[in-house]
Amino acid sequence: MKILVAGAQGQLARALVDAARVRRGFDVVVMGRPQLDLRDTATVAQAFAAVEPDLLINAAAYTAVDKAESDPAAALAINRDGAAALAAVADGYACPVIHLSTDYVFDGTKAEPYVESDRVGPASVYGRSKLEGEIAVMAANARHVILRTAWLYAPYGLNFLRTVVRLARERPQLRIVADQWGNPTYVPHLAHAVLSIAAQIGAAAPGAGMWGTYHGAAGGETTWAGFAAEIIRVGAPHGLPTVPVVPIATDEYPVAARRPANSRLDCTKLARTFGVRLPPWQQGVEECLPRLIRETRV
Ligand SMILES: NC(=O)c1ccc[n+]([C@@H]2O[C@H](COP(=O)([O-])OP(=O)(O)OC[C@H]3O[C@@H](n4cnc5c(N)ncnc54)[C@H](OP(=O)(O)O)[C@@H]3O)[C@@H](O)[C@H]2O)c1
Repeated sequence: MKILVAGAQGQLARALVDAARVRRGFDVVVMGRPQLDLRDTATVAQAFAAVEPDLLINAAAYTAVDKAESDPAAALAINRDGAAALAAVADGYACPVIHLSTDYVFDGTKAEPYVESDRVGPASVYGRSKLEGEIAVMAANARHVILRTAWLYAPYGLNFLRTVVRLARERPQLRIVADQWGNPTYVPHLAHAVLSIAAQIGAAAPGAGMWGTYHGAAGGETTWAGFAAEIIRVGAPHGLPTVPVVPIATDEYPVAARRPANSRLDCTKLARTFGVRLPPWQQGVEECLPRLIRETRV
């Protein structure tokens, strides 16, 4: 199956390339700016004509959550209009799309994990731009899987785990928000889940009930402080300083964008429909840290 991945340098795009190397049957072509620029519709059409994929994965996005508050036009241009342009061109080729979205489409007031049919209500510009992207993708291409994921981290890219590792080497203690709950998701685990979905919807006659919106994040749940404490614990035998993690409230760490207090995702529908369940978040930390520390120490 030939897959076009938009977002060449991103965390998920990189992990998809790695995952396709160890699984049979996927010919993954990643394309990023300037060859495939979501703000330039002509490049979108050219990329499709050049690759003629069986399936599109949109892993490109404006992901700077705080910066988006002061640059909503750019966030909407990429996350809504760019996503729609990609999905529409794919539709012209009768090509299905897996479109990545976020837990930040929710306002965080629910007490339990969110299911796909729960009321959305993004608290940030980024969340709104991703929600509008979901709606635009649905309208542009009926053959869509919208996969909401959360709190991504990998040994590469910009993410919380890498920030904690850097700060643990620089500071005597870490003050980390302890009143936001979510599912820290290891990107290589997500990439394998995405390829498993791809194999099923790319089949000659995919089940009619497969199109729609899904939640796909790591098993289990924690806070940013809990995530940080686990990073320090797992990193210690690999030489990471065992600095204390001091839990703080959201108000004590002012940032531009409001985050939901609860953005835990219930991923039952994904397991039921595709037989795909991501490993527990702690397993991701165990796999990621030795790799990161090894790679950054050489
Ligand atoms: N990161 C998270 O914690 C998180 C959480 C929930 C959901 N998600 C969603 O998961 C998906 C993958 O996230 P990620 O963490 O892998 O993102 P990422 O590492 O920030 O990568 C995003 C990629 O999008 C590309 N991009 C930005 N603007 C573009 C444009 N105009 N045209 C083409 N490409 C463009 C960037 O290219 P450049 O390298 O050229 O800048 C970058 O390679 C996104 O849909 C994101 O919204 C992420």
